[in-house]
This record gives sequence, structure tokens and C-alpha cells, in this order.
Amino acid sequence: MSSEKEHRVSRRQFLTYTLTGVGGFMAAGIALPLTRFALDPALEGGDEQEMVAVASVDELTEEPQRFDYSFEQEDAWHTSEVTQTAWLYLDGDEVVALSPVCTHLGCTVDWDSNEDFPNQFFCPCHGGRFEKDGVNVAGTPPTRPLDVYEMEVRDGTVYLGRPISRD
Ligand code: FES
Repeated sequence: MSSEKEHRVSRRQFLTYTLTGVGGFMAAGIALPLTRFALDPALEGGDEQEMVAVASVDELTEEPQRFDYSFEQEDAWHTSEVTQTAWLYLDGDEVVALSPVCTHLGCTVDWDSNEDFPNQFFCPCHGGRFEKDGVNVAGTPPTRPLDVYEMEVRDGTVYLGRPISRD
């Protein structure tokens, strides 16, 4: 008698587990494609950035100059206008394109702005300093160089992509 009762309970459990399992499987079969459909734009190539025309090579000198530029960026479901800054200069025939973002905590560096440290990039937040080529000055808070932009020169125009770490 008790064995039969146990058997009935176990059959009920079996049905519960089976129906739960089948229900869950069906729900996953519906939910997964819907989730994929909803997230698809976010999963597609979010790290890419088009090359943007920023300056003419003729404008550049050996002195770093600040260039602000804007472009449209597709961010999953919407497009937004992004403004960025680059420090550009000529090193011989080579164009150098540095990010202005301090590698300590992300403030914006300025060229030759502190009279105590001429011909260096200076960060006003914590006194971080970088040489002209973007290499961090030892003994100041930043522990790595300024990022360099992905860059192309076509028909005398400098195109920049995303900043790349030199670590
Ligand atoms: S954020 Fe530039 S030195 Fe700290």
C-alpha cells in the first residue's frame, strides 16, 4: 500500500518534471530567437569606427595642433553625433595623431600649456605629463603613453579612426 502511494507520488512528480521540462524547452525555443532579434544590432560589429577626414597635411607643422572633429556613430539602435579631438603634428614626413585623453584617469591633456613644463602635454587634473611623442613622463601619475589614432593619409588628407593603446 505504501509502496503504491509512493509510486503514485512519483508518477505525479514525473509528470510535473516532464511538463515543466517541455514547457521550459518550448519557452526557450520562442524566447531565444526573440532575444537574438532584439539584440542583433548590439551584437553586430560595435567596435568599428569609420575613418574620418580630420585635417589637411598642409595644415600640419612640427608643433602639435589640436583638431576637433565630428562624425556620426551608429550605436546599436540609434545614430548619434560624436565629437572627438586629436593632437596632430609632423615628425619628418610622418603624421603623428595622438589622443588627448590622459591615461591616468581620463582628463584632457593640452600641449605646452604649463610654463613650468614647456613642450610637453600637460594634464591639469593631477599634473600628468607626456613628451611630444605621447610617452608618459616618469614620476607623474600616468603609467602609459597617450593612445595613437588609427590613421591614413589619402590625397593629402589625414583620416582618423579609433584610438589604439600602445601598451
Ligand atoms: S587624469 Fe591626468 S594626471 Fe590624472
